[in-house]
Amino acid sequence: MPFLNRLALSGLRNIDTASLLPVPGFNVIFGDNGSGKTTLLEAIHLLGLGRSFRSHLQKPLIGYEHSEAVVFAELASGVTVGLQRPLRGPQTIKLAGKPAEGLAQLSRTLPLQLIHADTFQLLEGSPSERRQLLDWGVFHVEHSFLGFWRRARQALDQRNALLRSEASAGEIEPWSRELAIAATEVDASRGRYLTRLRRLIDEQLALVGTPGGQELRIDYQRGWDEDADLAVLLMGQLERDRRYGFTTVGPHKADLRFLIRGQAAADVLSRGQLKLLICAVKVAQARLLIEEQNERCLFLVDDLPAELDAGHRSKVCQLLASLGAQVFMSCIEQEQLLIQAQRQADNRGLPLALFHVKHGKIVPL
Ligand SMILES: Nc1ncnc2c1ncn2[C@@H]1O[C@H](COP(=O)(O)OP(=O)(O)OP(=O)(O)O)[C@@H](O)[C@H]1O
Ligand SMILES: [Mg+2]
Repeated sequence: MPFLNRLALSGLRNIDTASLLPVPGFNVIFGDNGSGKTTLLEAIHLLGLGRSFRSHLQKPLIGYEHSEAVVFAELASGVTVGLQRPLRGPQTIKLAGKPAEGLAQLSRTLPLQLIHADTFQLLEGSPSERRQLLDWGVFHVEHSFLGFWRRARQALDQRNALLRSEASAGEIEPWSRELAIAATEVDASRGRYLTRLRRLIDEQLALVGTPGGQELRIDYQRGWDEDADLAVLLMGQLERDRRYGFTTVGPHKADLRFLIRGQAAADVLSRGQLKLLICAVKVAQARLLIEEQNERCLFLVDDLPAELDAGHRSKVCQLLASLGAQVFMSCIEQEQLLIQAQRQADNRGLPLALFHVKHGKIVPL
């Protein structure tokens, strides 16, 4: 079970060194603006995904006076995960003392879900974020998915490169076929996953009430015409794709649409309602992971109170507590969250720990 028993970090933004013993329930982190709360969550995110959720660049993460950032955790299983990111050169990640085989191995060791202040953008923004959300779940419950996803990605890259280099139709065709084969599997996995997920989303919404009080529908668009054979479609679209310089149909164009009374949820729901909806979706994904793989994922909830009134804060805590997952949640003032978090943790018999972050120092209370 991926519970962090111990977390230590150094040289990460304003945190020179810190070490904490989180509980396998709610870990509430509070502190002023700029104190280092998001940095702490970022550290855990780095361990689970090998990257930050704030910056793709290496340098901004490393403390101004430091030559490297180091994050280390010990899981309840005894496995250790360590990440070292130098100012120059590649980062190294070790699992149980040995170099990690890849980011996929890392994510399977420490499955993470992130909810942050801009989470509502998931429903407003580009389809790629919703595809990522979907694929996170498929990856964790269908172990053959990653292989097909990579095959599709590689075929797509090859096809796009050939489209731009004005290669002949005969040179492009094998990649169109390869893309179609892998895409069919990717699409089938996504579709199967979503069918199972919908039931669990409904269960979460039954627990806290559907935001906006209207029925939610989730439509999956696979990225090409429902009745069409992708291989045939790709051959037929060749001239058009050449003009664009990239492949215009395929699994890389898939999207999820969240609809309330037939309208996009992002156009109808308020920010707070959107945030609650996304929490319900992510908690449903985590529940599916428990049901199918007997695996728990860890939740990082940055600035949980943002956009939420007391009732909605309580509902988010209720959803998270129902999972029994380890959660790291941050807020600015403890009064914004502690009462709701404590009540929901108590309801489920979960431990709660409180940490105060001040000028990059983390103090357990
Ligand atoms: N590379 C760096 N080296 C040192 N300090 C940094 C570096 N990058 C960012 N900082 C500082 O570290 C702090 C990081 O703050 P962080 O974003 O974790 O704060 P926070 O507690 O989440 O605040 P808020 O409540 O405003 O979200 C900020 O004060 C920032 O200015
Ligand atoms: Mg922050």
